[in-house]
Amino acid sequence: MNPLSSKLASYSKLGMHSFHTPGHKGREDILSSIKFPEHDLTELPGLDMLHNPQGVIAEAQRLAADIYGAEETFFLVNGATAGNQAMFLSLASACCGKKILIDRRAHRSVVAGLILSGLEPEYIAPEIHPDFKLPLGLNIASFCQDSEHIGACHVTDPSYYGTSIDLGYILKWRNNKRPDLPILVDQAHGAHFKGVIFPENAVSQGADAVVHSTHKTLAALTQAGMLHVQGSRINRNTLKQSLELLQTSSPSYLLMESLEKAMSSWQDFCWGDLYEEVMALHKELDGILRILTFNDVGSFGISGLDWTKILVNVSTLEIEADKVVELLRTSHLIEPELWDESNILFMLGIGSKPEDVRVLRKALKSIAKQYGLSRRNCRNLKEQTDEQFLTAAKQLPPVRLTPREAWLAPKRKVTLKDCLGCLAGETISVYPPGIPLVAAGEEITPYVLSLLEQADSYRWQGWQGYKQKEILIIDI
Ligand SMILES: Cc1ncc(COP(=O)(O)O)c(C=O)c1O
Repeated sequence: MNPLSSKLASYSKLGMHSFHTPGHKGREDILSSIKFPEHDLTELPGLDMLHNPQGVIAEAQRLAADIYGAEETFFLVNGATAGNQAMFLSLASACCGKKILIDRRAHRSVVAGLILSGLEPEYIAPEIHPDFKLPLGLNIASFCQDSEHIGACHVTDPSYYGTSIDLGYILKWRNNKRPDLPILVDQAHGAHFKGVIFPENAVSQGADAVVHSTHKTLAALTQAGMLHVQGSRINRNTLKQSLELLQTSSPSYLLMESLEKAMSSWQDFCWGDLYEEVMALHKELDGILRILTFNDVGSFGISGLDWTKILVNVSTLEIEADKVVELLRTSHLIEPELWDESNILFMLGIGSKPEDVRVLRKALKSIAKQYGLSRRNCRNLKEQTDEQFLTAAKQLPPVRLTPREAWLAPKRKVTLKDCLGCLAGETISVYPPGIPLVAAGEEITPYVLSLLEQADSYRWQGWQGYKQKEILIIDI
């Protein structure tokens, strides 16, 4: 009768330990101050208006700006997605004719921003970590291009996996060499960055616009995020117009209230106990499983680590990652955020409890004990990595059309066996993390094709024909 609500009800009865978004982890004690249904209201007299805030919303946004040290903060009711899109749209006129330098670890909402704005990307390839085979770091020197044809830079910091880059270096370079250049930061996964146990927040580092997916790690409801701005490199009026264009005219007061409440619960929260538990997990499992730890900082373009992301490589075990996930789910009631063929990502948030981390540590230990160490132990992981894979993964698909040109171009479907060398007509990502494997307008390379051929192994977003193994290409 009600398939969605029945499924939600049966799922929540399972009592899983959440290691995924949202950051509140479904805890009633954290969310009980958001009054549903009473506060599910609309823009009534005295309740202000998101798109022209003059009263309580303006005040709540100003308080959030004070907390992050921004000049102005905008509440987002369509996630960091809307923030990324609005940042690009606001630059459409100012950067017309120039390129935007983009860290290719970007989320697919960045490609959406390029489609909407018509701006042209110039991507910077990430560093692929040889143990995890994931784009964890970035060679920041490649960002510091003293070239007049670049109109702005966009970086994703931290990555989905919690690794951060030396943003301070990029900002210092900008201040010295290209003081006009706006630096946009997708800090979707770093709304909780404050204090010495986390990487530094991009706002306090001096980025011009910073987007936070507050719901991912703090106590905001899913979809609620923030966009912080400072300085004069981004035109605030155009930014406001862009946000109005992109976001609903009926913003949810529950989402907005949750953003305000997320700020107060965060101010009172002490991360120390969770931190201790995560360090204990790193210590106990290191050498049994390959875990991303502080020891990885300083290599492969990684300059910092958010310890609330626990990235575990299980290729040292005689069991596949998806089987480990199945065991975690069925025998230990642990729900991770994402996994691939060798890695599993566990995400903590403000609703996580130290005992959750203990449960995870015991579960991973017992699985490692049961499935033993394979001959490929942690120490020689590097030697196993396939050099060809690393080289191919670093090679970005050539951009032949801008995302907007590709959006507008005629398209046709072809089977995968006929698509090599064609221009993709759709932006395809494994989701999560939502980093485009290929964006519309890019050439389909042998590496891209090799992943598309494994259509059944992944959860795709943006690829309509994955079941039929067909892909939309630009008809030229
Ligand atoms: C790096 C990054 N940016 C932006 C987004 C979009 O965030 P939201 O879900 O809040 O729209 C995501 C979502 O996963 C993300 O990982």
